[in-house]
Amino acid sequence: MKHVKTKKITKLIVDAEKKAHKETKGDIEPAFAAPVKWPVDCVVGPGLEGAIACESKIGYVNGSKGELIYQGYNIFDLCAYSTFEEVSYLLLHGNLPTKPQLSSFNEKLIEYRNIPNTIGTLMGFPIRTMSAMAALRAGTNFMRYECTYADSPDYIPDRSKIISADEDSIPMETIPMGEEHAIYEFKKGVKESKDAGLDLHPPEGYPACYHLISGVSSVAGAVARIRQGFLPIAFDPELSHAANLIYMITGKKPTPVEERVMDVALILHADHGMNASTFATMVVASTLSDIYLAMGSGIAALSGPLHGGANEEVLKMLEEIGSVSNVASWYKHARAKKKKIMGFGHRVYRAYDPRARVLGPLAEHLVNEGGDAQAKTMLSIAKALEKEVISTLGAKKGIFPNVDFYSGIVYSCLGIPPDFFTPIFAVSRAAGWTARVMEYLKHNRIFRPRAMYVGSFDRKYKQSAGKDKKLKKK
Ligand code: SDX
Repeated sequence: MKHVKTKKITKLIVDAEKKAHKETKGDIEPAFAAPVKWPVDCVVGPGLEGAIACESKIGYVNGSKGELIYQGYNIFDLCAYSTFEEVSYLLLHGNLPTKPQLSSFNEKLIEYRNIPNTIGTLMGFPIRTMSAMAALRAGTNFMRYECTYADSPDYIPDRSKIISADEDSIPMETIPMGEEHAIYEFKKGVKESKDAGLDLHPPEGYPACYHLISGVSSVAGAVARIRQGFLPIAFDPELSHAANLIYMITGKKPTPVEERVMDVALILHADHGMNASTFATMVVASTLSDIYLAMGSGIAALSGPLHGGANEEVLKMLEEIGSVSNVASWYKHARAKKKKIMGFGHRVYRAYDPRARVLGPLAEHLVNEGGDAQAKTMLSIAKALEKEVISTLGAKKGIFPNVDFYSGIVYSCLGIPPDFFTPIFAVSRAAGWTARVMEYLKHNRIFRPRAMYVGSFDRKYKQSAGKDKKLKKK
C-alpha cells in the first residue's frame, strides 16, 4: 500500500498537470515531431538553435506548450506513478519494463552499484579540493578502467552492431545521402579479451549503460562524503536508487516522502532532448569512442552554469535578495544591469518548464512539512521573484522558471549540500545520455557541422620589412 504521505505527493503532481493543461495551449510542433527524409531543411540559429541533428523516439520537449514526453509518456504521468528505475529502463529500451524485466534490471543496478576498486582509486585523488563535477568525471574514467576491459591490450571493441561512416575513408564533403546506414562498416567479429572471464564488462552496449547509471550514483555518493570529510558509505541493497543516493550522500536513510521526492526529481532530470550535455555525449560517442568516455564529456558540459549549475546560483540569488520586501528593488536593479536571472529562461521552452511545475509544489510541500525558517524565507522569496519575472518577461519574451529554479530548494530540504546539486542532475541524466547514445549508434554518423568562413582570402606570405636583412633571399 502506498505510504499515505507519499500519496499526497502523487496528488500534488496530478494537480500540477491539471494546472498545466489549463494554462498552456499549443499542439505538437510539426517542425520537431515528424519523421524526416534526410537531408532536411531547417532554420538554424547560433549555437545550432533549431538544427535537427537526428531522429529520436526517446524524448520530446514541446517548447511552445511546455510539455515533456519520454518514449510517448507524459512526464507528469511518469512522475505520478513510475520510478526512476522504470523510467531508466523505458528510456533505454522503449517500453516500461514488465515485472520480470524490472526485477532483473533492478538486480543488475544493485550488483553494479558495488564498485569498490573504483572508489578506492578515487580516494587516492584530491577529491576534497576538486570541483564535484570534475571528481564525478574522474570517477567515470576510473569505472571504465576498473570495471571494463577497455584498456586490456587485446580487447577489440564489438562494433558488429554499429555501422558508421569512417570519415577518413570517404571525402569529407560527402553530401548527406540520406543514408539510413552509412557507407562503410568496420570489420566484423570480436576477439574476447583475456580478462573476459573476470567480472569485467565491455565498455559499450546495454550492460555498460546499466553499469554507468548505477555506478555513477555510487561515485557521486563517495565524492560527496569525501568532500564532507567522511569516508564513503556502502550502498544498502534494500534501498531504491533514489533512497541510496540520499543515503550515500548524507549518511541518513530518507523517510518515504524524502525518497519519493528524490525519485520524482530523478525522473524529471532523466532526459531532455538534445541539450548541451546530451549532445556532447552523442558527439563523442559518434566517433565510436566508448560510452564511458562519452559520458565524461556530458558531465563536463553539464558543469557549466548556463546548463547545470544554475540551481546552486538560484540559492545564492535568493540569499542575496534576503527578504520578500527586497524582491522588487533587486529585480529592477538586475534588469537594469541586463543580468540573467538564474533558474529562468530556456533555449527551447517559451512556456513554463513542466519540470518546474512539479518541483515548485514539491519544494512547497517539503518546506511546509518540515522546513526551517530559512527554508520558508527562501521559498517565499522564490515565489515573489517568480511573479515579478513572469509578469515582465513571461508573455513578452517567453521567460519562465526552468528546472533549476526550485530544484535547489528541494535538494536543500533533502539535506543535499549545494555543490552536489549538479552531480545529482548528472546521476539522473546518465539515463538519458546512455539511452540517446544507444539509439544514435544504431544509425551512427559522426557529427561534423560546418562553420561559415567569414575570414579573408588570397593573403600572401612575405618577409616582414623589419626582419633582419641577412635573412633576405639573395
Ligand atoms: C538547463 O537545453 C536544455 O534542455 C537544458 C536543460 C536540461 O534539462 O538539459 O533544460 C537544463 O540548462 C536549464 C537552464 C539552466 N540555466 C539557467 O537557469 C541560467 C539562466 N538562463 C539563461 O542563461 C538562458 O535562459 C539559457 C542559457 C538557459 C537559454 O538561453 P538562450 O536560449 O541562449 O537565450 P538567450 O541567452 O539568447 O536570451 C534570449 C533573450 C535575451 O534577451 P535579448 O538579448 O534578446 O534582449 O532572453 C533573455 C536574454 O537576455 N534571457 C533572459 C534569461 N534568459 C534569457 N533574461 C533574463 N534572465 C534570464 N534567465
